[in-house]
Amino acid sequence: MKIDVFFSPTGLDDLSMRGRNVVIIDVLRASTTICTALRNGAREVIPTPDIESATKISANLSSDSRLLGGERQGKKIDGFDLGNSPLEYTLEKVGGKTIVFTTTNGAGAIYKCRYASMALVGTFVNVSAIVRTMVDIGGTWTILCSGREGAFSVEDATCAGMMISEVQSEVLRRIPREDKPSAKVETGDAGLTAAVLYKKFRRSILEMIKKSEHGKYLISIGFSEDLKFCAQIDGVPVIPIVDGTGIKLKSERDPHSEGQPKLAVNA
Ligand code: MLT
Repeated sequence: MKIDVFFSPTGLDDLSMRGRNVVIIDVLRASTTICTALRNGAREVIPTPDIESATKISANLSSDSRLLGGERQGKKIDGFDLGNSPLEYTLEKVGGKTIVFTTTNGAGAIYKCRYASMALVGTFVNVSAIVRTMVDIGGTWTILCSGREGAFSVEDATCAGMMISEVQSEVLRRIPREDKPSAKVETGDAGLTAAVLYKKFRRSILEMIKKSEHGKYLISIGFSEDLKFCAQIDGVPVIPIVDGTGIKLKSERDPHSEGQPKLAVNA
């Protein structure tokens, strides 16, 4: 397998991800919030690049089945129903709803992947489910970190490093012993750097998040509980997939049934 990593969407245009299998990471907090919304029964999350498009799209949906969610400067947008704290996205609030969603970095990065072959939303809370899916599908993957205001963010890069490291372990786990020495996951300079970061922070993910620029900012505006939630490895084990214009839940297939009919059919 091969995994390319981008530390931010800067320089990518709307077609850069066309034809690729992509995982988009925004640890703080868009990816975590999307996982939580879908796990708590939201029908879909529609990512939009700006407030104007979010408002327009939501005006075309029935008012009892849609919610507007998102943030600017980490805070709920005026007139929106929900901000971007995963803790707000409870079953009571989001069950059965379509959420039209705009955030500073994450929603825009996901929107840029709308022409990808497959686009999954990943972060620490669903890392194992994402890794299994990447290995099930195999081939070449791109990990797109949302970053912060167009630049690098340590929490997204460390999560990318974790995905690379876990993909390598999962590949080795699945193949026969004699093939193991040649089963290296290929990556480039960004991927190698991400893997080094993961090695450094693997036992202190929450501490790393607390020290990150965006982590410190979120603490300063009262969201320290969100950091703990976002740091839970496999705390929300769902697979959000971009499906048309919205993000929905993908069910994890049974790897043993790939290509096999469930029941034998007699001719
Ligand atoms: C974003 O997409 O920029 C973030 O999720 C920001 C935030 O923490 O609300």
